[in-house]
Amino acid sequence: MTLTICRATADDWREYRDIRLRALAGAPDAYGSTLEGESAFGEETWRQRSGSSYALFGMLEGRAVAIAAGIPDRHEAESREIVGMWVEPDARGRGIAASLVEALVDWATRERAAAIALWVSDGNETARRVYERCGFIPTGQRDLLRPGLGEERMRRALS
Ligand SMILES: CC(C)(COP(=O)(O)OP(=O)(O)OC[C@H]1O[C@@H](n2cnc3c(N)ncnc32)[C@H](O)[C@@H]1OP(=O)(O)O)[C@@H](O)C(=O)NCCC(=O)NCCS
Repeated sequence: MTLTICRATADDWREYRDIRLRALAGAPDAYGSTLEGESAFGEETWRQRSGSSYALFGMLEGRAVAIAAGIPDRHEAESREIVGMWVEPDARGRGIAASLVEALVDWATRERAAAIALWVSDGNETARRVYERCGFIPTGQRDLLRPGLGEERMRRALS
């Protein structure tokens, strides 16, 4: 099956919402947001979410099986940040996350960013390995995803 990566638009908000809510339900410890919180969002918020950040779908045979988005880095002005990475369970193990990462690296490079970064929660070793394979280096910078669950920033410098 061939993977295609395409940018989400505001009109894709339903598909984006559905996959995002499946992500929050399926991996609650991977994200700072909660299923309860985002289930309450209305159409306008989802349109804004899918249409304004650099939000990507990973598509297999016309089906959206993955999402991730690029946003301005909240901690470093010249950098960009990857958020909301999710691959549907039946599409895992095919390198789709790495393809999304590379598409976001290309975007950040086009934007002349100095680096691209992300946060990975403690215990999410699968995601950490993916990002290490993609050239991200643990920075040691830590934060709390929520009380009782820490996260670490990983960063890849861009030339
Ligand atoms: C982390 C995640 C994005 C990786 O996506 P992916 O496209 O499957 O990544 P890969 O194909 O590189 O596979 C990653 C690992 O999962 C393993 N894997 C293979 N099939 C799998 C399956 N069906 N289910 C789970 N993991 C599987 C791979 O063998 C690989 O293991 P390795 O690191 O020891 O080599 C995905 O597992 C996911 O969405 N997890 C839940 C949300 C999450 O953690 N997001 C990251 C937030 S920072």
